[in-house]
Amino acid sequence: MTSSYSPESARLEAILLVGGQGTRLRPLTLSTPKPLLPTAGVPFLAHQLARARSFGVRRIVFATSYRASMFAEAFGDGSAYGLSLEYMTEETPLGTGGAIRNAAQALTCPSDAPVLVLNGDILSGHDIGEQVGLHVSRGAAVTLHLTEVDDPSRFGCVPTGEDGRVTAFLEKTPNPVTNRVNAGCYVFTRSVIDEIPAGQVVSVERETFPGLIEAGEPVFGYADRSYWLDVGTPAAFVQGSCDLVLGRLASPALPGPCGEFLAMPGAEVSPNAKIEGGTVVGPRAMVRSDAAVHGSVLDADCVVESGAIVVDSVVGAGARVDAGAVVRNAVIGEGAVVGPGNELLAGARLWPGVRLPAGAVRFSSDV
Ligand code: GTP
Repeated sequence: MTSSYSPESARLEAILLVGGQGTRLRPLTLSTPKPLLPTAGVPFLAHQLARARSFGVRRIVFATSYRASMFAEAFGDGSAYGLSLEYMTEETPLGTGGAIRNAAQALTCPSDAPVLVLNGDILSGHDIGEQVGLHVSRGAAVTLHLTEVDDPSRFGCVPTGEDGRVTAFLEKTPNPVTNRVNAGCYVFTRSVIDEIPAGQVVSVERETFPGLIEAGEPVFGYADRSYWLDVGTPAAFVQGSCDLVLGRLASPALPGPCGEFLAMPGAEVSPNAKIEGGTVVGPRAMVRSDAAVHGSVLDADCVVESGAIVVDSVVGAGARVDAGAVVRNAVIGEGAVVGPGNELLAGARLWPGVRLPAGAVRFSSDV
């Protein structure tokens, strides 16, 4: 169901949750918060900001905590993005609900206005205007974007009635009753945010949503099947970057044309290298002759030497994969070195600055 609601004319404000530590993405998140990790050539958030703007959002409050100052350094007052940005920092992390409540102090809208709330680690192609329109037309307290996944046990499972009303919110349950899950984008009526206790740790997933449903408040789901990805794990993070480069999700923030790979300024790719699958080659990064790189994120100033193979992996800034080394489904931290002939396979994570000597790690004896 669509509505004539226009976020632009209503001056829709948004809160962006970016205070998490991103533990599942370590070591990448040791020095850089997850929402700032280079993704398809720009900080991850640049894609979300551009999408929110395309739906008429002009003012966004960042709810920061972990490495808070880096957000203002990256995005400033937002004018370069056609946005007005504010930063509200928690001294100690207040959880998702506490963070929304804290950030709401910087909102300027009245208590009956809809407020868009976005997790800072989601890529989504859904129609935000339609979600807000549904919220307004139903007079909802909260309207949750819902998506369908194969394994709902890792997410908040959200059953709805025939009218779209949410009947339960079951966070990370081993026995999900539906494969419709919380997609991490909410519309709150502002007065509902103001009811969240101030200055306390509160989880919207474990406390606010179940509490509202229990109290009979109108909580609705906006379900769709557009592109959706939670980039919280290394495999998903790499996939998100590649999908953007390949054009599977259109992003106004992509700094070049879609294709098999995207080379950033100063990157050098040998004509004899094979490079595909939506790989991004960061600024001044090098891919030497006869190297093969598939579906990966190569950060600034890293080097993939001759004959090396990199598949579905992240190679951090200034890191090096030496001649003949193989890196698959792995994360190579900043400045780390994978010496010649090593084989790093699924789930391997090399911490920043670590240097693996030649042939130190192998998974087969015939290499
Ligand atoms: P993991 O540690 O790997 O689970 O990642 P995370 O820290 O990002 O946690 P999670 O994916 O559950 O968080 C969902 C969203 O809420 C992310 O955008 C986080 O940045 C944000 N978030 C989580 N906890 C807090 C918090 O205490 N304060 C703020 N401001 N944001 C938070």
